[in-house]
Amino acid sequence: MTKRGAFIVIEGLDRSGKSTQAATLLKRLQDAQSPAKLINFPDRTTAIGKMIDSYLRSESELDDRAVHLLFSANRWELAKSIEETLQSGETIICDRYAFSGIAFSASKIRPGTNSYPLLDYSWCRAPDVGLPAPDMTIFLDVTQEVARARGGYGEERYEKEGVQRRVRDVFERVAEEVEGSGGRWVLVNADESEEEVQKVVWDTVKEIIGGIEGPIEKLWD
Ligand code: TYD
Ligand code: MG
Repeated sequence: MTKRGAFIVIEGLDRSGKSTQAATLLKRLQDAQSPAKLINFPDRTTAIGKMIDSYLRSESELDDRAVHLLFSANRWELAKSIEETLQSGETIICDRYAFSGIAFSASKIRPGTNSYPLLDYSWCRAPDVGLPAPDMTIFLDVTQEVARARGGYGEERYEKEGVQRRVRDVFERVAEEVEGSGGRWVLVNADESEEEVQKVVWDTVKEIIGGIEGPIEKLWD
């Protein structure tokens, strides 16, 4: 039986080193002659992605529910191509996915208060039900202190300490739920050096780079 590619998602807070780790992982897979490609969400290149980009850079305002659905639609518009890539035997490394979608939206606070959620967790999860499910999610866990030491956050909408703290809390719930539904969620201490983190990531990924047997599962389904 021919094997399909593995679907590996890298998640984490801003400043956790996701994009660096994802790029290094891609290179290592290619060096090991294992066909792989890197994608990331939001994909800012599509029409929907451009709306998201402008929102994140605070160049436009959008209703919180509307933007949540745009993030999800941005994944759905690429779902078919993800499946085709995996079926062709290529591994996908995906920098952020539906888990960020839930964590960032379900951690929003009600205007003028400190209480959240503004958007209910299960409401946030619903539009992503049925997307291609990752075979493994690597969560790069960075503390506030280390994130701060790495030069702090950028200028985008969610790149603020308060936001990141709440997002981290919701990610814990997401992790429990992924594990509870039979998915693989691998927590990696991302406070360590780039090399240390890569070592752990590679040790985790190594076992599935030969390909995966069996169908692509559907997320939360
Ligand atoms: P990010 O990965 O930081 O993009 P870049 O590498 O281009 O800086 O993602 C941008 C922001 O979008 C980040 O703060 C998390 C947020 N986000 C959501 O709110 N919902 C989602 O579904 C996704 C994928 C990301
Ligand atoms: Mg960012």
